[in-house]
Amino acid sequence: MRTCLTLLLICAVSGCGSKPEFSHRDEYENLPPYAQAYVDEVLNTYFGTPTDMVVWDKLPLKLHTATGKVTTADNRSITLDINEPHAEISSGTELLLEAGEEAQQISAWIRSWDEESHTATLESALQSKPAEEQSVVVGPGQVLANGRHLYAEHCQHCHGVTGDGNGPTAPYLNPKPRDYRRGIFKFTTTQAPKRASREDLARVIEDGIPGTYMPSFKLLTEDESAALVEYVMWLSLRGELEYQLIRTLSDSYSNDAIKDRTSDGETSRNDIRDEFNAAVNEPDSFRYELDMMTTRLTQDWSSSQEEPAEVRPLTPRIPYSAESVAKGRVLYLNEKNKCLQCHGEAGYGDGSQTFSITKNELNQENPAPGLYDVWGNPIKPRNLHRGIYRGGRRPIDLYSRIYAGIKGTPMPAFSTTTLRKTDPDDPESAITDEDIWHLVNYILSVPFEEVKTGAGADSAKTAELATTPQEVDSH
Ligand code: HEC
Ligand code: HEC
Repeated sequence: MRTCLTLLLICAVSGCGSKPEFSHRDEYENLPPYAQAYVDEVLNTYFGTPTDMVVWDKLPLKLHTATGKVTTADNRSITLDINEPHAEISSGTELLLEAGEEAQQISAWIRSWDEESHTATLESALQSKPAEEQSVVVGPGQVLANGRHLYAEHCQHCHGVTGDGNGPTAPYLNPKPRDYRRGIFKFTTTQAPKRASREDLARVIEDGIPGTYMPSFKLLTEDESAALVEYVMWLSLRGELEYQLIRTLSDSYSNDAIKDRTSDGETSRNDIRDEFNAAVNEPDSFRYELDMMTTRLTQDWSSSQEEPAEVRPLTPRIPYSAESVAKGRVLYLNEKNKCLQCHGEAGYGDGSQTFSITKNELNQENPAPGLYDVWGNPIKPRNLHRGIYRGGRRPIDLYSRIYAGIKGTPMPAFSTTTLRKTDPDDPESAITDEDIWHLVNYILSVPFEEVKTGAGADSAKTAELATTPQEVDSH
């Protein structure tokens, strides 16, 4: 829809109690006030506030109840060819019609809706009758608004207004609620480094994450769960744009960068501010970069919904057998695969990396020994003896975890492509599809293994881990 792509539809959503506000990333505090004001302006223009959201049609989201075209119309009654035939449309639903050369938009309200013929009778007659083939948005922003209400009710106290994973309940939880603002989701069926698919997010909402405080919301209807998925994606897109914008600005305009740039005495702080203000208004400067950022973000999310992004085993599952388990055990112990460095020789989640100093994504040493996730929280490799799998316990779920890794965590993606890329000189290093199935069978066997004293190299450590109540399922 041409005009909708460039128009910002504003929809006010009524507040919920005290006025919630979006918080900022920590890095925002290291920008001078004029750069902070620019970040605020961009985010407010494209996303609005929690109580006054902007529905920006550039985003790859299902924001509206439906979209479609006029087939026949007079001033009072419009028949539509709609793209979502099962959408719930009723009296009181808003219609947004494009009108005239200028592609102005006219808002009308439905008095009654005929399900069979897809005909809307309007509350009041339009000044002129809409043309055939004219684009129509049904219930503009309604899906997002529903998502917002449901989120405030069910999710916000853990995941925070902004989706920063820092709601009032969060300090008491381990692992922490997901911070959506990096667009990184752990338990996906999409290849690394893709975003999550809608189905992945819906599955987490409906089933919860076993062994963590993420509850299951089975009682929500399909429409409610779908609205929540769009709202989580919306918060994620907002958070990612904020993250990328602040990172880009920080190169030249963080307080530290300004200090550096003014240290030779030749450039003053005022010069830098003038340079910033000029760049803001130049079409080929910040605005161009902002355009690139939003285009990339949009593409990243929409391509993650497409088939090639999916993890798909090329070989059907190899049935569980003692032979396959034994092969899996050999692969598990193979130094190249490093499983034991994290999960430990006996699978208790106590490998050598859990007590060595590791590095973060910026190649800096982490503050204490052990592993960390990209959000900066300490993280433990799974204790495979407990048989609790956060991403689901079906063989295909475990296949996806090994193939695509657990994004945002040190658990690597073992897909052949990823390994070939990291180790291009060693064609032997690639794990095959069959290998992954053997590993899956091995993992499924671990909780039933007979554990003999001294069987695991780290059994003393194991006893200690099992009594440390740090995580819900005490890994
Ligand atoms: C009691 C706290 C709590 C509530 C309430 C809660 N969550 Fe979570 N959520 C969590 C925790 C904890 C995690 C992270 C678990 C982990 O990292 O293994 C999480 C993770 C997630 C993830 C990330 C999944 C992934 O693959 O990375 C999504 C999406 C999510 N929650 C959505 C929601 C939605 C939507 C709601 C409301 C309907 C909700 N959560 C309510 C605690 C909560
Ligand atoms: C660099 C460390 C590291 C390596 C290497 C590693 N893992 Fe993991 N693994 C982790 C961490 C950390 C987690 C927990 C992530 C989370 O859920 O937050 C994990 C989780 C898992 C899970 C749990 C999945 C779920 O749904 O809960 C399985 C299964 C697993 N790893 C198997 C393996 C296998 C098999 C290998 C070797 C082929 C391996 N891992 C290599 C760190 C590692």
